[in-house]
Amino acid sequence: MPDTWETLERECNGCRACPLGAGRQHLVFGDGSRTAEIMFIGEGPGQREDEQGLPFVGPAGQLLNDMMEIIGLDRSKVYIANIVKCRPPGNRDPLNTERDACLPWLRRQTALLRPKMIVCLGRIAAQAVIKPEFRITKEHGHWFRKAGVWITAIYHPSALLRDVYKRPETFVDLKAIQAKAREICERTDLSTP
Ligand code: URA
Repeated sequence: MPDTWETLERECNGCRACPLGAGRQHLVFGDGSRTAEIMFIGEGPGQREDEQGLPFVGPAGQLLNDMMEIIGLDRSKVYIANIVKCRPPGNRDPLNTERDACLPWLRRQTALLRPKMIVCLGRIAAQAVIKPEFRITKEHGHWFRKAGVWITAIYHPSALLRDVYKRPETFVDLKAIQAKAREICERTDLSTP
């Protein structure tokens, strides 16, 4: 049977392919428009996301909302998912085994969404989606093309909360994302106020 969003989310909710499922409060499957042309991919849920079952609802999420607003986007126009769908304890990085166990769900989400553009948020997402040796400090803002999809990575909003000196570079990357989206997206309104 081909996936639907509903069956995929239900199946994912029952996943116990790694130990993270046993310790979570909620699955954090994804949020936003299931017909979006632009997909944002983060690392994994933190405490607030685990409590609410939604990605990027804590402090990093507030900054992500502000970053999207700069380029005329919001959650209703994009789809947001994570590399791992259950919270790693203490917000540690997901282990490679957890990442690998979870990636098939992201692949199936991506196959359903068929985005024109993917924006990886931070190193963990970029290494999983673009290439294992991805260096976020050197390669943020670079463009890659895989299976017809334009892919880039920017600093994770949590990194931008910790280090405000990274913000000007991210502003440049965001404007490039806006320009690329205006070029390749047909249905996404990116007008800024
Ligand atoms: N950080 C992430 O990478 N994902 C979230 O959903 C929240 C914080």
